Amino acid sequence: MAESKAAEATLDKGEAEVKKDRRELLKSIPWLGIAWGALAAAVGGLLTGILRFLYPNVLFEPPQTFKIGLPEEYQVGEVATQWKDRYGVWVVRNDEGFYALITVCTHLGCTPNWLSSENKYKCPCHGSGFYKNGINFEGPAPRPLERAAIVLAEDGQIVVDKSRKFLYERGGWDDPSSFLLYTA
Ligand code: FES
Repeated sequence: MAESKAAEATLDKGEAEVKKDRRELLKSIPWLGIAWGALAAAVGGLLTGILRFLYPNVLFEPPQTFKIGLPEEYQVGEVATQWKDRYGVWVVRNDEGFYALITVCTHLGCTPNWLSSENKYKCPCHGSGFYKNGINFEGPAPRPLERAAIVLAEDGQIVVDKSRKFLYERGGWDDPSSFLLYTA
């Protein structure tokens, strides 16, 4: 009898411990969830970092130096507008040769339009106007348009280099690289 009572007591004690363990486990479940969530977030962040490293954001900018064809493809007296969207230049041919104007307004950087009927570049933002040669004459633009370097390549094509800019007010238009002599 005494033995069975002792066995019962041991059993009760064991059950109580199991219940206690279960309660402890249930109490810790929310913390487990949070811990798993934190771990998942950390792994996610790490994977995102690795992917960004493997596939970095690349800004595709148009090249600064480019060929624009043969001189004979341009008419004397005309402003060639076909390179405006692609390279951001107007190419002008006059009796003496070529120059390339950068299509950025010198007021606040908008893109003017060439208006052939009015023989001028007109900025749509605040109304600045520039003569065909790039000199400003109306509106708030404080200075002429800038020119890019222009040369003839060995294959006979015209090459424009926008990384070299020539500013009228600094005497840059007197630099031989700002103008391509061509009279053929
Ligand atoms: Fe061209 Fe202001 S940005 S006039």
